[in-house]
Amino acid sequence: MKLQSAIQFASAAVALAALIVIGPSAIAADSIDPAADAKAFQKYFTDKFPRLELKDFVNGPYSMNEDMRRQWQEKEEFPPYEFSLEAGKEMFSTPFRNGKTYADCFPNGGIGIRQDYPYFDGKEGKVVTLELALNRCREANGEAPISYVKDDMAALTAYMAFTSRGKPFDIKIPNDPRALEAFEDGKRYFYTRRGQLNFSCASCHVQNPGERIRAEILAPALGILNAMPIYRSEWGGMGTISRRFVTCNIQTRGVPLEPQSDEYRNLEYYLSYVSNGLPISGPGARP
Ligand code: HEC
Repeated sequence: MKLQSAIQFASAAVALAALIVIGPSAIAADSIDPAADAKAFQKYFTDKFPRLELKDFVNGPYSMNEDMRRQWQEKEEFPPYEFSLEAGKEMFSTPFRNGKTYADCFPNGGIGIRQDYPYFDGKEGKVVTLELALNRCREANGEAPISYVKDDMAALTAYMAFTSRGKPFDIKIPNDPRALEAFEDGKRYFYTRRGQLNFSCASCHVQNPGERIRAEILAPALGILNAMPIYRSEWGGMGTISRRFVTCNIQTRGVPLEPQSDEYRNLEYYLSYVSNGLPISGPGARP
């Protein structure tokens, strides 16, 4: 990104970020109100883009204008994620060496459940994402975990998203102070500035959705995970949520976290919850 536009983004975001970034220790669990946050978050985007319906936000950059939407429809006719989807279906139904399959690890045999992830696990006291649950399933069955940022994980999550298309995100935050804090931590991560460019996630995806950075159109933060995983021409392949988080951190010349670290899990929990009600549309394809 050119410095000029970097500065523009940065200054545009200052006002909002100053309002919403709250110090870690300032928050007590009983003052955290995810439902109110989600309502305000969704209203911000529907006010900003009054011609879009809620469900239209799930196609990332393609939701932002008519031309882009036409390109998306054309892409959906010969979707570039098709190969990955087939591979995922195959992997999903191939038994592990012990004879069990992924289906044995998930409610409803893993079909049509994408919208329920991530969830808060009361026993562990932490957020569990779908990617993490897939690797835990492998390990519980004596298989080595797979990379969070590579093709196999993208293929598996592509298949699971596909069987859940159209189902609204239904993320639950139980009345447990640890769950509320996980949500709040994810929110804080999203709005905190970092990296050499001093951007937060919100600087781009809340302040500037629909704007261009080089050739790319910024996706709105509302519905930003509904189409995951995504095929990107620039990647020449598929990317998981983990891969996208890492890439966006690097883009602002920051240091990415470990995939499935507590912070990234909480970030995914926050972003998914504030998109409750919007349909799963994955896998997606991007220019
Ligand atoms: C400098 C601007 C910038 C910042 C800051 C940034 N991103 Fe991105 N992000 C992009 C660009 C460019 C893309 C690719 C085009 C698009 O889809 O928005 C993207 C794409 C994404 C996507 C995929 C959207 C889709 O539908 O294809 C997700 C998810 C995402 N970013 C999350 C994040 C998170 C989480 C953070 C904070 C850790 C973050 N981004 C910070 C620029 C940014």
